[in-house]
Amino acid sequence: MKLLVTSDLHLVRLWRSIVLTTLAQWVREVSPDALVVAGDVAVATEADTVLRELRRVFPDGPIIVALGNHDFWGGVAAGCRTLGATVERFWQVPAERYQVTLLDQDNFCSEELTFVGGYGHYDLGFAAPGLRYQGQMVTQEHYLRGRPPIENPLRWRDFDLMPGAAEVLSIAHGQVQGVRSRILAAGSQPIFVVLHTPPFEELLGVPDASLLDPESPPIRAFFRAYLGNRAMGEMLRLYSERIAGIVCGHTHRAAGPVDLGGFAGFNVGSDYGVPRGFVVDTKGSSMGISSITELMV
Ligand SMILES: [Fe+2]
Ligand SMILES: [Fe+2]
Repeated sequence: MKLLVTSDLHLVRLWRSIVLTTLAQWVREVSPDALVVAGDVAVATEADTVLRELRRVFPDGPIIVALGNHDFWGGVAAGCRTLGATVERFWQVPAERYQVTLLDQDNFCSEELTFVGGYGHYDLGFAAPGLRYQGQMVTQEHYLRGRPPIENPLRWRDFDLMPGAAEVLSIAHGQVQGVRSRILAAGSQPIFVVLHTPPFEELLGVPDASLLDPESPPIRAFFRAYLGNRAMGEMLRLYSERIAGIVCGHTHRAAGPVDLGGFAGFNVGSDYGVPRGFVVDTKGSSMGISSITELMV
């Protein structure tokens, strides 16, 4: 099976046509058996438009999507209180209409692999330890509000736009439980895991936290806390002998492919208007993946 794997397409109006043009070109070049998108497709209010466009670009095969944090944006304004309510309100009907599998709800089974995944969220487990800004210690309270302890215009935008965003840790925990239950439902086939947020430090694609000066860190160091879900990785390790590979996105920084202890993982590394794509070939390998190759834009 030949997969075209991408992420963080952010198909909002500004970048939609340029990104879809690239995606269509890859589909022509590769003739994939399935299209896999690891989140941040667009925003919730654009769900119908963008799933229709993905189906237009890839008319015949399976389209397998894990949602990203941006894909829940717009839920708050529509009165959705949870991520699940946002999926039901915005994504579920278009997904059925255009025959797109939402991994946040269902696994996708092929002859060789079962695709399991979902959004993922962040559990603050990748936060840089001991940060101080102008002498003020960063505490969990700051992370749970999305703002550093100094006057700064930057805030992690999920806190304004994502339903229930103040419940950082319970969302993260719920995401781990959801993926775990879908792994348990997957039977005995090798699993290809598709998450938006990285579950392993090796997949963040950002410099090691130990390279930061905690007394004088750049402001971006604060936002490291929102890059991935460490507890998700710890859960996945329990099933490592069943995992063929893992793909994620979210940080807009490429990482891997890297051996994560018996299975390969990579972060796609697309950025706004600059998509990246990979061909993942699953033929001729007992563990599920024989090659991972980056596509040229
Ligand atoms: Fe993104
Ligand atoms: Fe994201």
